[in-house]
Amino acid sequence: MMFTHAITRKPGTDFASGLTSSKLGPPDYQLMIEQHTAYVNTLTLLGLAVIELEPLPGYPDAYFVEDTAIVTPDVAVITRPGARSRRGEEKTIEPVLAQYRRVERIHAPGSVDGGDVLAMEGHFLIGISHRTNKQGAQQLGRILEKYGNTWSSVPVKAGLHLKSSINYLGNNTILVTREFSDLSLPEGYEKIMVDDGDEYAANTLALNGTIIMPAGFPKTRKKLDEAGYEIIELDVSETRKMDGGLTCMSLRF
Ligand code: GLY
Repeated sequence: MMFTHAITRKPGTDFASGLTSSKLGPPDYQLMIEQHTAYVNTLTLLGLAVIELEPLPGYPDAYFVEDTAIVTPDVAVITRPGARSRRGEEKTIEPVLAQYRRVERIHAPGSVDGGDVLAMEGHFLIGISHRTNKQGAQQLGRILEKYGNTWSSVPVKAGLHLKSSINYLGNNTILVTREFSDLSLPEGYEKIMVDDGDEYAANTLALNGTIIMPAGFPKTRKKLDEAGYEIIELDVSETRKMDGGLTCMSLRF
């Protein structure tokens, strides 16, 4: 799928008080802003019209906009985020997406974080995690089916979200960590596995024929180079300290 638009949100000055399990130390606000600006500029370079939202006071994780919706060519499904401190972020995304797509919603007791939903053309992998529960996955699956898609669920046995460990590179190929190497995929799909120690590099973002990957993972870079991908590396050290990555910081459609 070619993407034409992205929604991002500038991190707020309170972003370091967001949820994290990382032991990488406190993030730096100025560096975070520089890295986020480089990220937005890269989306623009790849042909996307970027809708940049302002920070959302009281919601330090709100720049992880991906968790608030699942957008397909036919519908935007507004999620009910799994973390209580993040509920409410989705209300500010809905009016933006409503300008581009018909809107549907996940309802209590279901919860879904967009970071747990991997689109592979018309098939969706939905991770069951601490954020996305079975009711949420079933609600989302029913909506996706209504618009002609298929889906399957997968337990998230490592990382915060499914996409912390698995991402779609295009060409029926996914990038996975060892924990997900036995994942069953629709027929015709292949896996590339990142080396042990390179788990964070599995969080790549495939956009309009280019792979954006986190800087600092030469072994994974070599594998993707050898597979023939066009690659841009971005330093995302500060968002990593907040359990985030390349995919979480935008909603592409
Ligand atoms: N800090 C990202 C999240 O926990 O949702």
